[in-house]
Amino acid sequence: MRLSKKTGVVAAGAALALTLTACAGGGAGSSNGDTDAGETTEGGTIGVAMPTETSERWIADGDAVQSGLEAAGYEVDLQFAGDDIPIQTQQIDAMITGGVDALIIAAIDGTALTSQLDAAAAAGIPVISYDRLIRDSENVDFYVSFDNEKVGVAQATALLYGLGLTDEAGEPTGEEGPFNVELFAGSLDDNNAHFFWKGAMETLQPFLDDGSLVVPSEQTDISQAATLRWQQETAQKRMEDLLTSTYSGGEELHGVLSPYDGLSRGIITALQGAGMGGETIEDGLPVVTGQDAEIASVKLIQDGVQQSTIFKDTRKLADQAVIAAEAYLAGEEPEANETETYDNGVKIVPSYLLEVDTVYADNITELLVDSGYWTQDEIDAGQAE
Ligand code: BGC
Repeated sequence: MRLSKKTGVVAAGAALALTLTACAGGGAGSSNGDTDAGETTEGGTIGVAMPTETSERWIADGDAVQSGLEAAGYEVDLQFAGDDIPIQTQQIDAMITGGVDALIIAAIDGTALTSQLDAAAAAGIPVISYDRLIRDSENVDFYVSFDNEKVGVAQATALLYGLGLTDEAGEPTGEEGPFNVELFAGSLDDNNAHFFWKGAMETLQPFLDDGSLVVPSEQTDISQAATLRWQQETAQKRMEDLLTSTYSGGEELHGVLSPYDGLSRGIITALQGAGMGGETIEDGLPVVTGQDAEIASVKLIQDGVQQSTIFKDTRKLADQAVIAAEAYLAGEEPEANETETYDNGVKIVPSYLLEVDTVYADNITELLVDSGYWTQDEIDAGQAE
């Protein structure tokens, strides 16, 4: 289909609606700049740098951004960097020297791209920071993401709800506990990790203050709770170490704040391996939160093993990135809905933020199946088709 740049936004929206209902999580992420024969390339080429293919959400993001841009008539150079910072900087360098017309970047380390962004600015290439804010550079033009602080609030609220300290909306129930919890954070070089932590800790603080919530390890600082590169194995190891150091005397653990499904699965493996409570929450397994609605975790939630996850509809985020790229290539500024919060250390980056939903066992169908994000068969299998 031939699309002019002028009609691209509307056409891209319509095309996205069609293509993205198919499947958000499925399919292998690929690195290519292929365009089907006959498709127009006059709209230019957009470089899309994603952090890793080891987490399903980034594969889904890459696929959705690529198909949205292609539907709008652009060529796409999509690259995944295996969570390796030098590889990502090389990929972006190559995109710039290859003459891309715009960049969409989900950074591994939000502070490591200054020289790439300087080069992009010198070449007049607009830079859209995707999901994770790129820091310490004035050459970040726009930021598309979810409301990251609200993600943290939602994770902490899910934990409190799971323990019975609040209702689902976060209103205190009057339950006094005390409940023992441990806290995990993401990778400190990811700006989002700090927003998730801030939102979560502000939500938990009143309960820590009144003693209804206790962190027996006393590891309540983000630097103690952090998980470099969001690695599942690292979280599993830390949970095992905490169980040994703090719970070997028979103390109970009731809940774990986890900011990402991969970490949650590592934590659950450690808990089950140590026989902490049982195989399911009903049997006494601690309440563990999550993020991203990864298929393996959605199955665990359905099975009563993981308590919750935060659903971020990557199709909508991809859509916003496409709309922002189109605006720049048409010589316009994309529309922001948040212009105060995202200070990257050098400037406040105009942002477009999306809302998130909390998934529990009883709303999987409504949030994930009815929206076409996962099929019930995929959830039952715990695997994307
Ligand atoms: C994203 C999360 C994701 C995490 C690990 C964060 O920057 O916002 O959705 O769980 O990275 O990949």
